[in-house]
Amino acid sequence: MAPVTDPPEGVHHYETADEVPFEISKYWHQRYEIFSKYDEGIWMTDDAWFGVTPEPVARKIAQDIANAPKSKNILIDAFAGAGGNTIAFALSGRWNQIFAIEKDPKALACAKHNAEVYGVAKKIWWIEGDSFTVLPKRLKQSAKNAVVFGSPPWGGPTYTDFEVFDLAVMQPYSLQQLHDAFSAVSSEVILYLPRTSDLQQLAKYAKKGEKLKVAHYCMRGASKAMCVFMGTFEAD
Ligand SMILES: C[S@@+](CC[C@H](N)C(=O)[O-])C[C@H]1O[C@@H](n2cnc3c(N)ncnc32)[C@H](O)[C@@H]1O
Repeated sequence: MAPVTDPPEGVHHYETADEVPFEISKYWHQRYEIFSKYDEGIWMTDDAWFGVTPEPVARKIAQDIANAPKSKNILIDAFAGAGGNTIAFALSGRWNQIFAIEKDPKALACAKHNAEVYGVAKKIWWIEGDSFTVLPKRLKQSAKNAVVFGSPPWGGPTYTDFEVFDLAVMQPYSLQQLHDAFSAVSSEVILYLPRTSDLQQLAKYAKKGEKLKVAHYCMRGASKAMCVFMGTFEAD
C-alpha cells in the first residue's frame, strides 16, 4: 500500500469521469487494464496516459525478457514513464537490480508512487535524467551486465495513419539513435515500438546468421505494440 499523500501539481488520480480531460477519457475508461490496482491510488500525468504500457502487456514483456542470458542480472528501463514496465520487471523477481530512468520529474513521481502501490518501489533505483547521458556516464559499468529496455515516445507522424510506420522519422528519437545509444552500452536491447513498425528497418539490426526476434503483444485479439529483441534470448 502506498502512503496516503496528495499528488504534486500536474499529477492526478482521477476518480470520476467528470474530472477527466476529454482527450484522456478513452484511456481512463481502460484504467483497470492499465493498472489493475488503479483504485489503490495510482498517479498519472495527463501525458503519461498516452504512453503507459497496460499491465498484462507489461507482465508478458517482463516474462519474455527474463529469457535473457543468466549473466545479465540487471535491468535498465530507459524511459520509465508512469512505471508500467518498471513495476512489471520488479514484480517478475528476475533481476538483482533495476534502474528506472525518466527525464520528466512529474512522470518519475508517478512511477515511484505507483511502484509503492504495487509494493516494489524499494526494489528500484530511480534516476531523474536523460537516458542518453545517464547510460554512458552514471550507468556505464552496470550496463555491461544489464538488459536495456526502452519504450520511447512514438512521436512524429501519427503511427496509426500509416500501414507501415517509418522508424527513421519517429520522434524525438529514431530507431537508429535508440539502437546506437543503447547497444553501445549493452549487448541485449529491447525496444517497445508501434505495432505497424517497418520490419525491414528492424531486420537491418539482425547479426549475420542470427535471428532477430520480434513479438506482437496483444489484448482482446489485437496487437497493442511490438517488441524487438536485439541480442541473445532463449527461443520460446
Ligand atoms: C512512452 S513513455 C514510457 C511509458 C512507460 N513504459 C510506462 O509504462 O509508463 C516515454 C517516456 O520517456 C520519457 N523520456 C523521453 N525522452 C527521455 C530521455 N531522453 N531520457 C529519459 N526519459 C525520457 C518521457 O518523459 C516519457 O515519460
